[in-house]
Amino acid sequence: MSGEGLKTTDVSAKNEMVGSVLVVGAGIGGMQAALDLAESDFKVYLLDKSPAIGGTMAELDKTFPTNDCAMCIMAPKLVECTRHRNIELLSYSEIEDIEGPAGRFKVRITKKARFVDEDKCTACGDCMTNCPVRNEIYILEPEDQTMIDLPAEDRVKIEEILHQHNGEKSALVSILQSTNAFYNYLPEGVLRYLSRQLDVPLSLIYRIATFYTAFSLKPRGRHIIRVCVGTTCHVKGAPLIIETLERKLGIKRGETTEDMAFSLEEVACLGCCGLAPVMTVGDDLYGKISQAEVTKILRKYT
Ligand code: FES
Repeated sequence: MSGEGLKTTDVSAKNEMVGSVLVVGAGIGGMQAALDLAESDFKVYLLDKSPAIGGTMAELDKTFPTNDCAMCIMAPKLVECTRHRNIELLSYSEIEDIEGPAGRFKVRITKKARFVDEDKCTACGDCMTNCPVRNEIYILEPEDQTMIDLPAEDRVKIEEILHQHNGEKSALVSILQSTNAFYNYLPEGVLRYLSRQLDVPLSLIYRIATFYTAFSLKPRGRHIIRVCVGTTCHVKGAPLIIETLERKLGIKRGETTEDMAFSLEEVACLGCCGLAPVMTVGDDLYGKISQAEVTKILRKYT
């Protein structure tokens, strides 16, 4: 890390009447600890190295063993942590140094720059979606006509798709679905073409294309294998199914075989936990699968 754009903060734990506490890690456990301490009138510094609090649980769909919605459990705690008068959030921060005895120590913390005004930030995520560095697509000049000059047969197909939806902007998701179904992914040039033809900002198209896992910006295989890694499927052996598929196909999850026959992906709960472990190949669903059955299933598509 360079010094530029970084801010260092000293957090002292020495002179509060009832002391102050540093909680490291703002996952569900850290948040609960911070709330309990804050309710007991301790000044709490809740630190996490990631830009947002919530930890791994924020990425889960369901929780084991009750299958409760993870966000429903977390959301009230997230709100409480951000609003509690005794809690100071130090997200996107890391500990540099600790000195002093227990109960009277000093911590040196590096708070990384976010390059946004935190007071104005509403956590909408638009800056991440439209980041010109992360989404290289935006670096290209908007008027770059070469990106819009599609081959004739592609242009005919896209025009046909647009015609099916009356060229309506409101049908953008359906148009992207049809385009994705035709190419098996969303080529950058086509997205630019759609942006111009529909008069819809490219950033909006890109936001939709990156939000739904059904869409891909990279070429994918003719058969897309999705293995459910939701809680139930995980417990019932999904990791072994994935390992077997990786071995048989010679690729890792998220990759496509060289002959473009198969792409291997993970998905959260497919909604049929009673059949766990579950995988799909294209539109076909396979439940209660074993490692041995994986080979038989693959054979059907080769
Ligand atoms: S966890 Fe629900 S289908 Fe896999």
